[in-house]
Amino acid sequence: MALARLIEAALQVRQQAYAPYSRFQVGAALELKGQESIFVGCNVENASYGLTICAERMAIGAAVAKFDLVQYPPQRIVITASPIAAPCGACRQVLAEFGLELEVVCLDPETPTNWQTYKISELLPNSFRLAHVPKELTNTPRES
Ligand code: THU
Repeated sequence: MALARLIEAALQVRQQAYAPYSRFQVGAALELKGQESIFVGCNVENASYGLTICAERMAIGAAVAKFDLVQYPPQRIVITASPIAAPCGACRQVLAEFGLELEVVCLDPETPTNWQTYKISELLPNSFRLAHVPKELTNTPRES
């Protein structure tokens, strides 16, 4: 998929952010390997601040609601916020769940030509993964 399509989706969904407390609006657009769909998310804040949902986690949730992400792992996510920002620690962990190849593109909505690209493995080295959970504690069939 063309990067321009993902960027457009991220910029658009950022406008939907509900951020009356921080005024920091974030938009995210995610594509999966082998799929044409785009999954979007924006941050949703709450009067009980800690309940805030980040844009990236909403985008992952939207994708999970449609596809098996083990079969179609996240390939690229565009995240847009002003000033430009990389995903928070919690989102890095959630983004890393379905594969370490994910490309994370952070984009400034004011200057969309200004972006930074990372691999999720670079943003969250040595991540905690399914393979670390002892087999007998899970009911998920897996190879290792
Ligand atoms: N936020 C995100 O949506 N994604 C991130 O990775 C960082 C932070 C949101 C949460 C909150 O609504 C606002 O940005 C300020 O922290």
